[in-house]
Amino acid sequence: MILSASNIKKSFKSGKSETLVLNNINFNVEEGQMVAIMGVSGSGKSTLLHILGLLDEPDSGDVYFSGEKINFTDKKNLALLRNANIGFVFQFYSLINELSVLENVLLPTMINGIIKIDYAKELLLRVGINQEFFNKRSYNLSGGEKQRVAIARALINNPKVIITDEPTSNIDENNAKLLMSLLRDLQQSFNTTVVISTHSNKIARFCDTTYFLSEGVLTNEDNS
Ligand SMILES: Nc1ncnc2c1ncn2[C@@H]1O[C@H](COP(=O)(O)OP(=O)(O)OP(=O)(O)O)[C@@H](O)[C@H]1O
Ligand SMILES: [Mg+2]
Repeated sequence: MILSASNIKKSFKSGKSETLVLNNINFNVEEGQMVAIMGVSGSGKSTLLHILGLLDEPDSGDVYFSGEKINFTDKKNLALLRNANIGFVFQFYSLINELSVLENVLLPTMINGIIKIDYAKELLLRVGINQEFFNKRSYNLSGGEKQRVAIARALINNPKVIITDEPTSNIDENNAKLLMSLLRDLQQSFNTTVVISTHSNKIARFCDTTYFLSEGVLTNEDNS
């Protein structure tokens, strides 16, 4: 099991009220699998992805990466672990507009100081971004192009897991299809594990397993 979570609870306080968002969640994904997490808006998909991506700490329960239990209090180790193993692609791409396409892809390498320009270029070509875009500022790109740059950036440190939060919600259906085949292609070449949250049944069916999040409870369905 590359990534698993057991008995995860998470609630948010606002004023005097407290909302329980995740109530004893159990989640497992094997290396090289592609899984979808579905659920209505506000059901806690992003909350769960942040915990699985080691960006946020659960109130209780454990997360395991490659069988190793995560210590959420050791922030430095957490950052290193994340940087080396997990690639994130968020809904709004989170590219830095002022930087060029190439610089955006290289950003995660700044932390460990190993700048991989040739690999960044190779990844950009692989996701369908041509050379003429490399030095363009990222705000000049279309939504679909930004999404592909975000995927190249997520891949730069050869992560074991890619976590994507509604990657297709801001692009048209054709680009969404291209994005999914790209993710599948990458998963097959690098044996990358992919976790996707989505509102789309089509996207979910494309994955090996679909999880459903509702009222704090996670259930799953094998799509094979
Ligand atoms: N940092 C936070 N502080 C307080 N409440 C939060 C916080 N993050 C999320 N919530 C609440 O937790 C619930 C789940 O939110 P979450 O963003 O995980 O849902 P989601 O399934 O990703 O929704 P969507 O499909 O709209 O992205 C919501 O009720 C939200 O208001
Ligand atoms: Mg969300």
